[in-house]
Amino acid sequence: MKQNSTAAQRVPDPCVLVIFGASGDLTRRKLVPAIWHLQKQGRLPEAFALVGVARREWDDDYFRQQMAEGLAEFVGELDESVLEAFLAKLHYVSGDPANPATYVALKTQLETLDREHGTGGNRCFYCSVPPQIYLGIVEQMGKAGLNHQHRDGQGWCRIIVEKPFGHDFDSAHDLNEALHDVFAEEQIYRIDHYLGKETVQNILVFRLGNSIFEPLWNRRYVDHVQITAAEGVGVEHRAGYYDQSGALRDMIQNHLLQVLCVIAMEPPSSFDAESVRLEKLKVLKAIRPILIGQVDRYAVRGQYGPGIANGEELPGYLEENEVPADSRTETYAALEFTIDNWRWQGVPFYVRTGKRMEKRTSTITIQFSQPPHLIFGQTGKMPPSTLTIRIQPEEGISLSFNGKVPGPDVRLDTVNMDFSYAESFGGRTPEAYETLILDSLLGDATLYSDSDWIEKSWQLLMPVLEAWKTTSSGSVPSYPAGSCGPNEADALLGEDWRTWAAL
Ligand code: BG6
Repeated sequence: MKQNSTAAQRVPDPCVLVIFGASGDLTRRKLVPAIWHLQKQGRLPEAFALVGVARREWDDDYFRQQMAEGLAEFVGELDESVLEAFLAKLHYVSGDPANPATYVALKTQLETLDREHGTGGNRCFYCSVPPQIYLGIVEQMGKAGLNHQHRDGQGWCRIIVEKPFGHDFDSAHDLNEALHDVFAEEQIYRIDHYLGKETVQNILVFRLGNSIFEPLWNRRYVDHVQITAAEGVGVEHRAGYYDQSGALRDMIQNHLLQVLCVIAMEPPSSFDAESVRLEKLKVLKAIRPILIGQVDRYAVRGQYGPGIANGEELPGYLEENEVPADSRTETYAALEFTIDNWRWQGVPFYVRTGKRMEKRTSTITIQFSQPPHLIFGQTGKMPPSTLTIRIQPEEGISLSFNGKVPGPDVRLDTVNMDFSYAESFGGRTPEAYETLILDSLLGDATLYSDSDWIEKSWQLLMPVLEAWKTTSSGSVPSYPAGSCGPNEADALLGEDWRTWAAL
Protein backbone atom coordinates (compact mmCIF):
# COMPACT_ATOMS: atom_id res chain seq x y z
CA MET A 1 0.00 0.00 0.00
CA LYS A 2 1.19 3.54 -0.77
CA GLN A 3 2.29 5.50 2.28
CA ASN A 4 1.56 9.08 3.24
CA SER A 5 4.24 11.69 3.73
CA THR A 6 4.54 11.00 7.43
CA ALA A 7 5.13 7.29 6.96
CA ALA A 8 8.62 5.90 7.33
CA GLN A 9 10.49 5.20 4.09
CA ARG A 10 10.01 1.64 3.12
CA VAL A 11 12.99 -0.40 1.95
CA PRO A 12 12.46 -3.57 -0.07
CA ASP A 13 13.50 -7.03 1.09
CA PRO A 14 17.02 -8.13 0.14
CA CYS A 15 16.70 -9.00 -3.58
CA VAL A 16 18.16 -9.21 -7.06
CA LEU A 17 16.84 -7.24 -10.02
CA VAL A 18 17.42 -9.14 -13.27
CA ILE A 19 17.18 -7.15 -16.50
CA PHE A 20 16.60 -9.03 -19.76
CA GLY A 21 17.77 -6.75 -22.56
CA ALA A 22 20.60 -5.34 -20.44
CA SER A 23 22.65 -4.17 -23.42
CA GLY A 24 19.75 -2.09 -24.75
CA ASP A 25 19.04 1.60 -24.74
CA LEU A 26 16.36 1.58 -22.01
CA THR A 27 18.69 -0.11 -19.52
CA ARG A 28 21.43 2.44 -20.05
CA ARG A 29 19.23 5.49 -20.42
CA LYS A 30 16.54 4.87 -17.80
CA LEU A 31 16.78 1.70 -15.72
CA VAL A 32 20.32 1.82 -14.39
CA PRO A 33 20.11 5.59 -13.71
CA ALA A 34 16.89 4.90 -11.79
CA ILE A 35 18.61 2.22 -9.71
CA TRP A 36 21.50 4.60 -9.11
CA HIS A 37 19.19 7.27 -7.70
CA LEU A 38 17.39 4.73 -5.53
CA GLN A 39 20.70 3.51 -4.17
CA LYS A 40 21.84 7.08 -3.48
CA GLN A 41 18.67 7.85 -1.56
CA GLY A 42 19.08 4.71 0.56
CA ARG A 43 15.91 3.20 -0.89
CA LEU A 44 17.53 -0.14 -1.80
CA PRO A 45 18.27 -2.90 0.68
CA GLU A 46 21.84 -3.44 1.81
CA ALA A 47 21.76 -6.87 0.13
CA PHE A 48 20.93 -5.88 -3.45
CA ALA A 49 22.35 -6.92 -6.80
CA LEU A 50 21.50 -6.23 -10.41
CA VAL A 51 22.08 -8.92 -13.02
CA GLY A 52 22.00 -7.91 -16.67
CA VAL A 53 21.14 -10.58 -19.24
CA ALA A 54 21.66 -10.11 -22.98
CA ARG A 55 23.05 -11.85 -26.04
CA ARG A 56 26.22 -9.79 -26.34
CA GLU A 57 29.29 -11.55 -25.09
CA TRP A 58 30.10 -9.11 -22.35
CA ASP A 59 31.43 -9.96 -18.88
CA ASP A 60 30.85 -8.27 -15.51
CA ASP A 61 33.69 -5.78 -16.05
CA TYR A 62 32.57 -4.72 -19.49
CA PHE A 63 28.92 -4.43 -18.35
CA ARG A 64 30.02 -2.25 -15.43
CA GLN A 65 32.09 -0.08 -17.74
CA GLN A 66 29.13 0.36 -20.12
CA MET A 67 26.76 1.24 -17.29
CA ALA A 68 29.29 3.69 -15.80
CA GLU A 69 29.43 5.45 -19.17
CA GLY A 70 25.64 5.51 -19.29
CA LEU A 71 25.48 7.01 -15.80
CA ALA A 72 28.00 9.69 -16.73
CA GLU A 73 25.84 10.56 -19.75
CA PHE A 74 22.38 10.41 -18.17
CA VAL A 75 22.99 11.27 -14.52
CA GLY A 76 25.97 13.60 -14.78
CA GLU A 77 28.72 14.00 -12.24
CA LEU A 78 29.20 10.98 -10.00
CA ASP A 79 31.05 10.53 -6.77
CA GLU A 80 33.81 8.01 -7.60
CA SER A 81 33.69 6.06 -4.32
CA VAL A 82 29.88 5.74 -4.44
CA LEU A 83 30.16 4.71 -8.08
CA GLU A 84 32.63 1.96 -7.29
CA ALA A 85 30.38 0.49 -4.60
CA PHE A 86 27.40 0.72 -6.94
CA LEU A 87 29.15 -0.94 -9.86
CA ALA A 88 30.25 -3.81 -7.60
CA LYS A 89 26.56 -4.73 -7.30
CA LEU A 90 26.25 -5.18 -11.09
CA HIS A 91 26.70 -8.57 -12.76
CA TYR A 92 26.22 -9.90 -16.26
CA VAL A 93 25.05 -13.17 -17.80
CA SER A 94 25.57 -13.51 -21.52
CA GLY A 95 23.07 -15.67 -23.36
CA ASP A 96 20.29 -15.95 -25.89
CA PRO A 97 16.92 -15.55 -24.15
CA ALA A 98 15.55 -18.35 -26.35
CA ASN A 99 18.20 -20.82 -25.15
CA PRO A 100 17.50 -22.89 -21.99
CA ALA A 101 21.23 -22.81 -21.18
CA THR A 102 20.90 -19.05 -20.48
CA TYR A 103 18.49 -19.80 -17.63
CA VAL A 104 20.76 -22.47 -16.19
CA ALA A 105 23.60 -19.92 -16.11
CA LEU A 106 21.27 -17.27 -14.68
CA LYS A 107 20.02 -19.57 -11.97
CA THR A 108 23.57 -20.44 -10.98
CA GLN A 109 24.44 -16.75 -10.81
CA LEU A 110 21.37 -15.99 -8.69
CA GLU A 111 22.13 -18.83 -6.28
CA THR A 112 25.70 -17.58 -5.93
CA LEU A 113 24.40 -14.09 -5.11
CA ASP A 114 21.98 -15.53 -2.55
CA ARG A 115 24.85 -17.39 -0.89
CA GLU A 116 27.41 -14.62 -1.00
CA HIS A 117 25.23 -11.55 -0.48
CA GLY A 118 22.15 -12.85 1.31
CA THR A 119 19.61 -11.84 -1.34
CA GLY A 120 17.26 -14.46 0.05
CA GLY A 121 15.97 -16.00 -3.19
CA ASN A 122 13.99 -12.80 -3.94
CA ARG A 123 14.12 -11.86 -7.62
CA CYS A 124 12.44 -9.26 -9.77
CA PHE A 125 12.79 -9.89 -13.51
CA TYR A 126 12.52 -6.89 -15.84
CA CYS A 127 11.69 -7.71 -19.48
CA SER A 128 13.22 -4.84 -21.43
CA VAL A 129 13.27 -6.73 -24.72
CA PRO A 130 11.26 -6.54 -27.96
CA PRO A 131 7.72 -7.86 -27.34
CA GLN A 132 8.11 -10.84 -29.69
CA ILE A 133 10.68 -12.22 -27.23
CA TYR A 134 8.46 -11.97 -24.09
CA LEU A 135 6.65 -15.23 -24.63
CA GLY A 136 9.87 -17.23 -25.01
CA ILE A 137 11.39 -15.68 -21.89
CA VAL A 138 8.32 -16.37 -19.79
CA GLU A 139 8.14 -19.98 -20.97
CA GLN A 140 11.84 -20.57 -20.25
CA MET A 141 11.54 -18.97 -16.82
CA GLY A 142 8.73 -21.37 -16.00
CA LYS A 143 10.79 -24.35 -17.12
CA ALA A 144 13.80 -23.17 -15.13
CA GLY A 145 11.69 -22.71 -11.98
CA LEU A 146 12.34 -18.97 -11.87
CA ASN A 147 8.74 -18.22 -10.93
CA HIS A 148 8.45 -19.21 -7.27
CA GLN A 149 6.27 -17.33 -4.83
CA HIS A 150 7.15 -17.29 -1.15
CA ARG A 151 6.96 -21.08 -1.07
CA ASP A 152 9.10 -23.16 1.29
CA GLY A 153 11.10 -20.12 2.28
CA GLN A 154 12.44 -19.80 -1.28
CA GLY A 155 11.75 -16.06 -1.47
CA TRP A 156 9.62 -14.33 -4.11
CA CYS A 157 9.75 -13.86 -7.88
CA ARG A 158 8.10 -10.99 -9.73
CA ILE A 159 8.16 -10.04 -13.38
CA ILE A 160 7.99 -6.54 -14.86
CA VAL A 161 6.79 -6.42 -18.47
CA GLU A 162 7.52 -3.36 -20.59
CA LYS A 163 5.14 -1.95 -23.13
CA PRO A 164 3.95 -2.58 -25.80
CA PHE A 165 1.76 -5.14 -24.07
CA GLY A 166 0.35 -6.75 -27.21
CA HIS A 167 -0.37 -5.32 -30.63
CA ASP A 168 -4.13 -5.75 -30.45
CA PHE A 169 -6.71 -7.39 -28.22
CA ASP A 170 -5.87 -10.98 -29.28
CA SER A 171 -2.13 -10.67 -28.83
CA ALA A 172 -2.56 -8.94 -25.45
CA HIS A 173 -4.91 -11.71 -24.35
CA ASP A 174 -2.43 -14.39 -25.52
CA LEU A 175 0.38 -12.68 -23.64
CA ASN A 176 -1.72 -12.52 -20.49
CA GLU A 177 -2.51 -16.23 -20.82
CA ALA A 178 1.13 -17.12 -21.34
CA LEU A 179 2.11 -15.07 -18.30
CA HIS A 180 -0.64 -16.64 -16.21
CA ASP A 181 0.63 -20.11 -17.18
CA VAL A 182 3.83 -19.34 -15.34
CA PHE A 183 3.10 -16.53 -12.88
CA ALA A 184 0.20 -15.60 -10.65
CA GLU A 185 -1.36 -12.22 -11.45
CA GLU A 186 0.09 -10.74 -8.21
CA GLN A 187 3.57 -11.52 -9.52
CA ILE A 188 3.07 -9.63 -12.79
CA TYR A 189 3.90 -5.92 -13.05
CA ARG A 190 2.89 -4.39 -16.42
CA ILE A 191 4.69 -1.12 -16.55
CA ASP A 192 3.28 2.15 -17.86
CA HIS A 193 5.79 4.87 -17.18
CA TYR A 194 3.11 7.59 -17.26
CA LEU A 195 1.70 6.24 -14.00
CA GLY A 196 5.10 6.76 -12.37
CA LYS A 197 5.21 10.44 -13.28
CA GLU A 198 4.90 12.66 -10.22
CA THR A 199 2.14 14.81 -11.69
CA VAL A 200 0.02 11.84 -12.66
CA GLN A 201 0.30 10.50 -9.12
CA ASN A 202 -0.53 13.95 -7.84
CA ILE A 203 -3.89 13.95 -9.63
CA LEU A 204 -5.35 11.69 -6.96
CA VAL A 205 -3.78 13.70 -4.15
CA PHE A 206 -5.15 16.89 -5.69
CA ARG A 207 -8.61 15.41 -6.08
CA LEU A 208 -8.85 13.43 -2.87
CA GLY A 209 -6.36 15.06 -0.52
CA ASN A 210 -8.46 18.26 -0.61
CA SER A 211 -12.15 18.72 -0.21
CA ILE A 212 -12.51 21.75 -2.48
CA PHE A 213 -12.08 20.22 -5.94
CA GLU A 214 -13.92 16.91 -5.80
CA PRO A 215 -17.39 18.51 -5.48
CA LEU A 216 -16.75 20.19 -8.87
CA TRP A 217 -15.42 17.04 -10.52
CA ASN A 218 -18.53 15.98 -12.39
CA ARG A 219 -21.03 16.71 -15.15
CA ARG A 220 -22.69 19.57 -13.23
CA TYR A 221 -19.58 21.75 -13.39
CA VAL A 222 -17.30 20.30 -16.09
CA ASP A 223 -17.97 21.06 -19.76
CA HIS A 224 -15.30 18.74 -21.14
CA VAL A 225 -11.85 17.31 -20.46
CA GLN A 226 -8.82 17.33 -22.77
CA ILE A 227 -5.81 15.09 -22.34
CA THR A 228 -2.85 15.96 -24.53
CA ALA A 229 0.56 14.36 -25.02
CA ALA A 230 2.37 16.34 -27.69
CA GLU A 231 5.92 15.47 -28.65
CA GLY A 232 8.41 17.65 -30.47
CA VAL A 233 10.47 14.68 -31.64
CA GLY A 234 9.67 12.62 -34.70
CA VAL A 235 9.96 8.88 -35.06
CA GLU A 236 13.71 9.07 -34.26
CA HIS A 237 15.53 5.76 -34.76
CA ARG A 238 12.45 3.62 -33.98
CA ALA A 239 10.71 3.49 -37.36
CA GLY A 240 10.86 -0.33 -37.40
CA TYR A 241 8.68 -0.47 -34.30
CA TYR A 242 6.70 2.71 -34.76
CA ASP A 243 5.53 2.11 -38.30
CA GLN A 244 3.87 -1.10 -37.13
CA SER A 245 2.42 0.66 -34.13
CA GLY A 246 1.27 4.24 -34.73
CA ALA A 247 0.10 6.82 -32.23
CA LEU A 248 -3.05 5.00 -31.12
CA ARG A 249 -1.19 1.90 -30.00
CA ASP A 250 1.97 3.69 -28.88
CA MET A 251 0.41 6.33 -26.63
CA ILE A 252 -3.37 6.12 -26.32
CA GLN A 253 -3.97 2.44 -25.51
CA ASN A 254 -1.70 2.76 -22.50
CA HIS A 255 -0.50 6.17 -21.27
CA LEU A 256 -3.43 8.38 -22.17
CA LEU A 257 -6.18 5.94 -21.25
CA GLN A 258 -4.46 5.45 -17.91
CA VAL A 259 -4.44 9.20 -17.34
CA LEU A 260 -8.10 9.38 -18.37
CA CYS A 261 -8.92 6.70 -15.80
CA VAL A 262 -7.11 8.55 -13.03
CA ILE A 263 -9.06 11.72 -13.88
CA ALA A 264 -12.44 10.01 -14.25
CA MET A 265 -12.35 7.27 -11.58
CA GLU A 266 -14.48 7.27 -8.46
CA PRO A 267 -12.55 7.77 -5.22
CA PRO A 268 -11.19 4.37 -4.17
CA SER A 269 -11.74 3.44 -0.55
CA SER A 270 -7.99 3.26 -0.03
CA PHE A 271 -4.83 3.86 -2.02
CA ASP A 272 -3.89 0.25 -2.64
CA ALA A 273 -3.53 -1.80 -5.80
CA GLU A 274 -6.81 -3.65 -5.54
CA SER A 275 -9.01 -0.62 -4.87
CA VAL A 276 -7.32 1.69 -7.38
CA ARG A 277 -7.26 -0.88 -10.18
CA LEU A 278 -10.90 -1.75 -9.61
CA GLU A 279 -12.00 1.87 -9.96
CA LYS A 280 -9.89 2.39 -13.08
CA LEU A 281 -11.34 -0.70 -14.69
CA LYS A 282 -14.84 0.58 -13.94
CA VAL A 283 -14.05 3.71 -15.97
CA LEU A 284 -12.99 1.68 -19.00
CA LYS A 285 -16.13 -0.42 -18.67
CA ALA A 286 -18.24 2.74 -18.65
CA ILE A 287 -16.68 4.13 -21.83
CA ARG A 288 -19.18 3.87 -24.65
CA PRO A 289 -17.69 1.64 -27.36
CA ILE A 290 -16.95 3.43 -30.62
CA LEU A 291 -18.55 1.29 -33.30
CA ILE A 292 -16.67 0.69 -36.51
CA GLY A 293 -19.17 2.77 -38.48
CA GLN A 294 -18.68 5.73 -36.06
CA VAL A 295 -14.91 5.93 -36.23
CA ASP A 296 -14.86 8.99 -38.51
CA ARG A 297 -17.08 10.82 -36.04
CA TYR A 298 -15.08 9.98 -32.90
CA ALA A 299 -11.49 9.61 -34.09
CA VAL A 300 -9.08 11.66 -36.20
CA ARG A 301 -5.63 10.62 -37.32
CA GLY A 302 -2.79 12.45 -39.01
CA GLN A 303 0.72 11.97 -40.28
CA TYR A 304 3.39 14.66 -40.16
CA GLY A 305 4.62 16.08 -43.40
CA PRO A 306 7.71 18.27 -43.86
CA GLY A 307 7.69 21.43 -41.78
CA ILE A 308 9.74 23.97 -39.88
CA ALA A 309 10.27 24.17 -36.13
CA ASN A 310 12.53 26.74 -34.44
CA GLY A 311 13.86 27.73 -37.83
CA GLU A 312 14.92 24.15 -38.61
CA GLU A 313 13.57 22.35 -41.67
CA LEU A 314 12.16 18.99 -40.66
CA PRO A 315 11.47 15.99 -42.88
CA GLY A 316 8.01 14.49 -43.13
CA TYR A 317 7.30 11.04 -41.69
CA LEU A 318 7.55 9.42 -45.13
CA GLU A 319 11.06 10.82 -45.59
CA GLU A 320 12.32 9.39 -42.28
CA ASN A 321 14.81 6.51 -42.34
CA GLU A 322 13.24 3.08 -42.70
CA VAL A 323 9.69 4.38 -43.10
CA PRO A 324 8.02 2.79 -46.16
CA ALA A 325 7.25 5.44 -48.77
CA ASP A 326 3.56 4.47 -48.82
CA SER A 327 3.10 4.18 -45.05
CA ARG A 328 -0.34 5.14 -43.73
CA THR A 329 0.72 4.89 -40.08
CA GLU A 330 -0.72 7.69 -37.96
CA THR A 331 1.74 9.84 -36.05
CA TYR A 332 -1.17 11.82 -34.57
CA ALA A 333 -4.41 10.54 -33.12
CA ALA A 334 -7.28 12.33 -31.40
CA LEU A 335 -10.35 10.60 -29.99
CA GLU A 336 -13.50 11.58 -28.21
CA PHE A 337 -14.61 9.23 -25.45
CA THR A 338 -18.00 9.26 -23.77
CA ILE A 339 -18.28 7.88 -20.26
CA ASP A 340 -21.69 6.46 -19.54
CA ASN A 341 -22.05 6.86 -15.79
CA TRP A 342 -23.71 9.27 -13.35
CA ARG A 343 -20.64 11.41 -12.83
CA TRP A 344 -19.66 11.99 -16.45
CA GLN A 345 -22.73 11.55 -18.62
CA GLY A 346 -22.59 14.18 -21.39
CA VAL A 347 -19.00 15.32 -20.64
CA PRO A 348 -16.74 14.52 -23.61
CA PHE A 349 -13.19 13.41 -22.88
CA TYR A 350 -10.91 14.41 -25.76
CA VAL A 351 -7.58 12.66 -25.95
CA ARG A 352 -4.85 13.61 -28.44
CA THR A 353 -1.24 12.79 -29.06
CA GLY A 354 1.20 13.41 -31.84
CA LYS A 355 4.83 13.35 -32.83
CA ARG A 356 6.57 16.37 -34.36
CA MET A 357 4.14 18.80 -32.89
CA GLU A 358 4.87 22.39 -32.06
CA LYS A 359 6.46 21.46 -28.75
CA ARG A 360 6.72 18.78 -26.10
CA THR A 361 3.96 19.10 -23.58
CA SER A 362 1.64 16.71 -21.73
CA THR A 363 -1.33 18.32 -20.05
CA ILE A 364 -4.81 17.69 -18.78
CA THR A 365 -7.32 20.48 -19.20
CA ILE A 366 -10.56 20.45 -17.27
CA GLN A 367 -12.79 23.08 -18.81
CA PHE A 368 -15.61 24.18 -16.54
CA SER A 369 -19.13 25.04 -17.67
CA GLN A 370 -20.42 28.53 -18.31
CA PRO A 371 -22.05 30.35 -15.38
CA PRO A 372 -25.78 29.74 -15.58
CA HIS A 373 -26.66 33.44 -15.80
CA LEU A 374 -24.49 36.32 -17.01
CA ILE A 375 -24.95 39.61 -15.13
CA PHE A 376 -22.00 41.65 -16.39
CA GLY A 377 -23.43 42.56 -19.76
CA GLN A 378 -21.50 39.99 -21.79
CA THR A 379 -22.93 38.66 -24.95
CA GLY A 380 -22.12 35.14 -26.08
CA LYS A 381 -19.82 32.85 -24.14
CA MET A 382 -17.42 33.90 -21.38
CA PRO A 383 -13.85 32.59 -21.49
CA PRO A 384 -14.27 29.33 -19.58
CA SER A 385 -12.65 28.71 -16.21
CA THR A 386 -10.02 26.08 -16.78
CA LEU A 387 -7.90 23.85 -14.59
CA THR A 388 -4.69 22.76 -16.29
CA ILE A 389 -2.57 19.96 -14.90
CA ARG A 390 0.88 20.07 -16.50
CA ILE A 391 2.35 16.59 -16.54
CA GLN A 392 5.52 17.77 -18.29
CA PRO A 393 7.61 19.77 -18.71
CA GLU A 394 7.36 22.39 -15.92
CA GLU A 395 5.14 20.16 -13.82
CA GLY A 396 2.39 22.02 -12.05
CA ILE A 397 -1.26 22.96 -11.88
CA SER A 398 -2.91 26.22 -12.84
CA LEU A 399 -6.42 27.54 -12.57
CA SER A 400 -7.52 30.24 -14.94
CA PHE A 401 -10.69 32.17 -14.25
CA ASN A 402 -12.31 35.52 -14.95
CA GLY A 403 -11.38 38.52 -12.85
CA LYS A 404 -12.33 42.18 -12.89
CA VAL A 405 -9.94 44.52 -14.66
CA PRO A 406 -9.28 47.42 -12.24
CA GLY A 407 -11.20 50.55 -13.19
CA PRO A 408 -14.59 52.17 -13.02
CA ASP A 409 -16.18 49.81 -15.56
CA VAL A 410 -16.90 46.17 -14.95
CA ARG A 411 -14.59 44.60 -17.47
CA LEU A 412 -13.53 40.96 -17.22
CA ASP A 413 -10.26 39.33 -18.14
CA THR A 414 -8.76 35.90 -17.62
CA VAL A 415 -6.30 35.58 -14.73
CA ASN A 416 -4.24 32.67 -13.40
CA MET A 417 -3.38 30.95 -10.12
CA ASP A 418 -0.36 28.80 -10.56
CA PHE A 419 1.38 26.03 -8.63
CA SER A 420 4.78 24.92 -9.88
CA TYR A 421 6.47 21.80 -8.57
CA ALA A 422 9.92 23.29 -9.00
CA GLU A 423 9.04 26.48 -7.10
CA SER A 424 7.11 24.80 -4.30
CA PHE A 425 9.21 21.74 -3.68
CA GLY A 426 12.55 22.51 -5.39
CA GLY A 427 15.00 19.66 -5.74
CA ARG A 428 15.00 16.93 -8.29
CA THR A 429 11.73 15.34 -9.40
CA PRO A 430 12.22 11.58 -9.41
CA GLU A 431 11.97 9.88 -12.78
CA ALA A 432 8.96 7.64 -13.33
CA TYR A 433 11.17 4.54 -13.51
CA GLU A 434 12.57 5.18 -10.02
CA THR A 435 9.11 5.16 -8.48
CA LEU A 436 7.94 2.17 -10.48
CA ILE A 437 11.00 -0.01 -9.95
CA LEU A 438 10.98 0.71 -6.23
CA ASP A 439 7.28 -0.16 -6.05
CA SER A 440 7.82 -3.48 -7.80
CA LEU A 441 10.63 -4.38 -5.39
CA LEU A 442 8.30 -3.47 -2.52
CA GLY A 443 5.52 -5.60 -4.00
CA ASP A 444 3.23 -2.60 -4.53
CA ALA A 445 1.34 -2.85 -7.83
CA THR A 446 -0.87 0.23 -7.36
CA LEU A 447 0.80 2.05 -10.26
CA TYR A 448 0.92 -0.96 -12.58
CA SER A 449 -1.70 -2.22 -15.05
CA ASP A 450 -3.53 -5.47 -14.48
CA SER A 451 -4.63 -7.97 -17.11
CA ASP A 452 -8.28 -6.89 -17.17
CA TRP A 453 -7.43 -3.24 -17.68
CA ILE A 454 -5.04 -4.06 -20.53
CA GLU A 455 -7.54 -6.25 -22.35
CA LYS A 456 -10.39 -3.81 -21.91
CA SER A 457 -8.30 -0.92 -23.23
CA TRP A 458 -7.44 -2.90 -26.36
CA GLN A 459 -11.04 -3.94 -26.81
CA LEU A 460 -12.16 -0.30 -26.80
CA LEU A 461 -9.68 0.66 -29.49
CA MET A 462 -10.11 -2.33 -31.80
CA PRO A 463 -12.86 -0.76 -33.99
CA VAL A 464 -10.67 2.29 -34.57
CA LEU A 465 -7.64 0.13 -35.41
CA GLU A 466 -9.77 -1.99 -37.74
CA ALA A 467 -11.21 1.03 -39.52
CA TRP A 468 -7.79 2.67 -39.93
CA LYS A 469 -6.20 -0.54 -41.18
CA THR A 470 -8.15 -0.69 -44.41
CA THR A 471 -6.64 1.34 -47.21
CA SER A 472 -10.13 2.17 -48.43
CA SER A 473 -10.85 4.01 -45.20
CA GLY A 474 -9.91 7.42 -46.58
CA SER A 475 -6.69 9.37 -46.67
CA VAL A 476 -4.54 10.05 -43.64
CA PRO A 477 -4.60 13.83 -43.16
CA SER A 478 -1.21 15.46 -43.14
CA TYR A 479 0.00 18.15 -40.74
CA PRO A 480 3.21 20.12 -41.03
CA ALA A 481 5.99 19.02 -38.66
CA GLY A 482 6.17 21.64 -35.90
CA SER A 483 2.43 22.39 -35.96
CA CYS A 484 -0.49 21.57 -33.64
CA GLY A 485 -1.70 18.61 -35.66
CA PRO A 486 -4.18 18.23 -38.52
CA ASN A 487 -6.99 20.77 -38.93
CA GLU A 488 -9.42 17.86 -39.12
CA ALA A 489 -9.03 17.44 -35.34
CA ASP A 490 -10.90 20.73 -34.73
CA ALA A 491 -14.14 19.20 -35.96
CA LEU A 492 -13.90 16.56 -33.24
CA LEU A 493 -14.66 19.19 -30.59
CA GLY A 494 -18.12 19.72 -32.07
CA GLU A 495 -19.46 22.90 -30.50
CA ASP A 496 -17.76 25.96 -31.93
CA TRP A 497 -16.87 27.46 -28.53
CA ARG A 498 -14.71 24.46 -27.73
CA THR A 499 -11.13 24.74 -28.93
CA TRP A 500 -8.06 22.64 -28.29
CA ALA A 501 -5.95 23.99 -25.46
CA ALA A 502 -2.84 25.80 -26.68
CA LEU A 503 0.24 23.57 -26.59
C1 BG6 B 1 6.73 5.80 -25.07
C2 BG6 B 1 6.45 5.79 -26.54
O1 BG6 B 1 5.94 4.86 -24.41
O2 BG6 B 1 6.43 7.09 -24.56
C3 BG6 B 1 7.27 6.84 -27.26
O3 BG6 B 1 6.77 4.51 -27.08
C4 BG6 B 1 7.05 8.19 -26.64
O4 BG6 B 1 6.97 6.87 -28.65
C5 BG6 B 1 7.21 8.12 -25.13
O5 BG6 B 1 8.00 9.08 -27.20
C6 BG6 B 1 6.78 9.42 -24.50
O6 BG6 B 1 7.13 9.42 -23.14
P1 BG6 B 1 7.39 10.77 -22.37
O7 BG6 B 1 7.67 10.35 -20.98
O8 BG6 B 1 8.57 11.43 -23.06
O9 BG6 B 1 6.15 11.59 -22.54
